[in-house]
Amino acid sequence: MPRGKRPPSTPALKVREMRRGDVPQVLVIEASSSATPWTRAMFLSELGRPGTIDLVADRGGDVLGYIMVSRYADVWHILNVVVRQAHRGQGIGGQLLEELFLRAAGKPHLGFTLEVRVSNAGAIHLYRRKGFVDHGIRPGYYSDNGEDALIMWRGGGPEDTF
Ligand SMILES: CC(C)(COP(=O)(O)OP(=O)(O)OC[C@H]1O[C@@H](n2cnc3c(N)ncnc32)[C@H](O)[C@@H]1OP(=O)(O)O)[C@@H](O)C(=O)NCCC(=O)NCCS
Repeated sequence: MPRGKRPPSTPALKVREMRRGDVPQVLVIEASSSATPWTRAMFLSELGRPGTIDLVADRGGDVLGYIMVSRYADVWHILNVVVRQAHRGQGIGGQLLEELFLRAAGKPHLGFTLEVRVSNAGAIHLYRRKGFVDHGIRPGYYSDNGEDALIMWRGGGPEDTF
């Protein structure tokens, strides 16, 4: 290697707000990761709404993952979280959740909730490690195969919301 030249370093991963310009990359990841993928219109309508926290994990302009979260009745609902297949198991999903917790901490709220397929062992493992606990089952929740959803909460919980 010529003197003074360094091998290109990998850009740092940063978790930042999702922008409309990220949606084309997000749609590619979504299409390859979900049995019932969100459409462009669904992403754009969430991005335009107040009371949402929508983040991407960005490495040098490449979107490696994203999380879509909406606040209803003082509870943050995690609607969608995906990491690009080749980059799973590297802590990116965890970083998206940690950034969500930080950003949500600025406003009073009753916690976080989500639904996850009962067969999705990887995601359930991650959520438990990040402080979510099981709060029941929604039978037949997923329209593509009739699978049950596990309901999970972090902070608060159904008994605290009324
Ligand atoms: C769920 C998802 C977002 C996690 O993202 P990620 O970047 O891989 O998550 P992390 O690397 O931060 O953590 C993954 C954890 O799950 C573990 N894990 C992965 N697959 C697993 C499996 N099949 N069984 C048990 N644990 C598993 C990893 O070892 C890691 O745990 P550790 O840190 O204690 O070792 C990602 O797998 C994904 O995009 N899945 C497809 C979409 C999806 O299912 N989204 C969730 C819908 S509710």
